[in-house]
Amino acid sequence: MNKLIFCLLFFAFLSNASAQFDANYDESKVPEFKLPDPLKTFNGKKIRNSKKWESRRRPELLNFFTQNMYGEVPGKLEISSVDIQEERKSALNGKAVRKQVDLVFKNHGKTLDFTILIYLPKTEESVPLFVGYNFFGNHTITEDVDVVISEAWARNNPSFGIINNQLTEQSRGVRTNRWCVDKIIDAGFGLAVIYYGEVDPDKDDFSDGIHPLFYIDDQQQPAANEWGSIAAWSWGLSRAMDYFERDEDIDESKVVVFGHSRLGKTALWAGASDERFAGVISNNSGCGGAALSKRRFGETVWRINNSFPHWFCKNFRNYIKNEEALPVDQHELIALIAPRPVYIASAEEDKWSDPKGEFLSALYATPVYNLYGKKGIQQTEMPELNQPVQNTVAYHIRTGEHDVTAFDWEQYIKWAQKFIQ
Ligand code: GCU
Repeated sequence: MNKLIFCLLFFAFLSNASAQFDANYDESKVPEFKLPDPLKTFNGKKIRNSKKWESRRRPELLNFFTQNMYGEVPGKLEISSVDIQEERKSALNGKAVRKQVDLVFKNHGKTLDFTILIYLPKTEESVPLFVGYNFFGNHTITEDVDVVISEAWARNNPSFGIINNQLTEQSRGVRTNRWCVDKIIDAGFGLAVIYYGEVDPDKDDFSDGIHPLFYIDDQQQPAANEWGSIAAWSWGLSRAMDYFERDEDIDESKVVVFGHSRLGKTALWAGASDERFAGVISNNSGCGGAALSKRRFGETVWRINNSFPHWFCKNFRNYIKNEEALPVDQHELIALIAPRPVYIASAEEDKWSDPKGEFLSALYATPVYNLYGKKGIQQTEMPELNQPVQNTVAYHIRTGEHDVTAFDWEQYIKWAQKFIQ
């Protein structure tokens, strides 16, 4: 390996390792904080029923998260054309139908397109579906040789054969462990995936991806209240939903949005901001996802805005080392999904994502679900390892590290069969 690249990778590794080392992992050092009540408006009015929640409280919370955290999408843009690149009636050893569908967008003389890889169980009926982004290209989630390799920018990862920021054949199937395609199809669900780099490359650069299609005149980057990358990726999921509404093989009323880590943050925001998603799964989403910011445990608002300045809108920086000033916390992001089913999952060794903070968010979102007569999290203590609690709000913490495992998918499928299918 070129020495310079090695040094850069080594320093990147060191700085991430030292960030994780500096973080607080001591429960006794979690600051005292008061969590905002999801059932009290910013003006202090008590919310007593779902009607008032929907007319008063939900809109003001959604507006706060939009203007101060994830950022507003600066306009509407419809799919300009749908290009079915490829369709095979008999994929995955004959058990599934495969489609690769390209959505094209045009605005202000610029074009962007992204490809959705879809596997559906073979049936005459329209099917429920999981949709989510992958980190390294659609061809990484399966050994299927017919999956097209994206040409979009990718973060270098020599062990996956990603050099010069280009995905290659070498990474085909390297992430099959994170996507239990067979289990999903056998359970009667479809799976749709998108390479997130096609919607917005994951780097601090607003000249690429979807953002420039919305720029006016010589604009170079979004305004302080406008979308960062998480909102851009969520926007892409909503456009995928626009396509699902047109595809007769998919039951658009039963689409569950799934994501891991930064893409778990994205799934939560997609589900909160687009009520067409029937359910949401957040796998190890951590800071800016399911974890409570005010706990400052593991990754903090300061750390995340420093390491990833492009993920949130600029207004979010007002809360760096100033979490106490936040009039919301992440339990209210989860509450925005109510009454739709939501699953929050943590991993024991993934302290950086603050498993307890993720659990507490699910717990404190529960009163909003109760307004609809739905069961949330009823116990105040975290469940035992590998012992999921599955109600309309579901939670588990499994053994192991920051990852998506077969155990995770087995739980998601079981839960979705009960609450979505
Ligand atoms: C980093 C980041 C997290 C993020 C994670 C991931 O660890 O600090 O916020 O969730 O990357 O996306 O894998």
